[in-house]
Amino acid sequence: MSHSASVKSLTATAIRARKGTEPLVCLTAYTTPVAKLADEHCDLVLVGDSVGMVLHGLPSTLNVSMEMMIMHGQAVARGLDRALMVVDMPFGSYEESAAKAFRNAARLMAETGAGAVKLEGGQHMAETIRFLVDRGVPVMAHIGLTPQAVNAIGGYKVQGRGEDGERIRADARAVADAGAFSVVLEKVPAALADQITAEIAIPTVGIGASASCDGQILVIDDMLGLFDTFKPKFVKRYAHLAADAAHAIQAYAEEVRSRRFPAPEHVFSQEEPGK
Ligand code: KIV
Repeated sequence: MSHSASVKSLTATAIRARKGTEPLVCLTAYTTPVAKLADEHCDLVLVGDSVGMVLHGLPSTLNVSMEMMIMHGQAVARGLDRALMVVDMPFGSYEESAAKAFRNAARLMAETGAGAVKLEGGQHMAETIRFLVDRGVPVMAHIGLTPQAVNAIGGYKVQGRGEDGERIRADARAVADAGAFSVVLEKVPAALADQITAEIAIPTVGIGASASCDGQILVIDDMLGLFDTFKPKFVKRYAHLAADAAHAIQAYAEEVRSRRFPAPEHVFSQEEPGK
């Protein structure tokens, strides 16, 4: 897809307008063929920094670079016609100052054709979100468990239990007031997600949150059973592609070793030139 084709995609404004209506279907994608598959059924496709863990074998999202996000963003853009493409701002590309966040957000949008960016953080990122939105960058916020802060949090723990719920509610209000068009709620108690969804005017997109969120998102390699290093409780496997691929590779190896592959239909004869 060319950058200009993104004009016919769903916009951040259209996603924002879906608050309280039909649930938003969101998935991550990192490659063109998978983006094509997702586009048919999804409203929003996120080029998540989870790409570092699921495709590049990195231990966390902290090592993901702008160059990686741009390369995968360009690949995903080629597969999308309808869904809004959102690209994650990688760790270190936006926290330092609003001006740096704008430079990097503008680069992500210009070089990939993304219709919006996503960044992690609540109250402490509100000023930056406002700065970006005022300058034409639609922002999806991400609160609750923010994986880029895994070292500060001390693990991939549920956020907002008990009195800590007030902090997450304040984060949700802050990003909504700052102009985010939507907010991802990751790994928070369901009752808290329900309360936030009822309280704020922008769509909540849950991952490990609640069925009453305005939308849901999953990492595509998790839901397809392609990434099976570990499985968080909030992941539902809709397929088992890693197991299917392992069986296919085993069958291929056996057929090569026993010379059953290639079979006559896979090789060329002298009599059929050009075929
Ligand atoms: O990077 C990612 O894939 C994400 C989703 C889990 C929301 O941020």
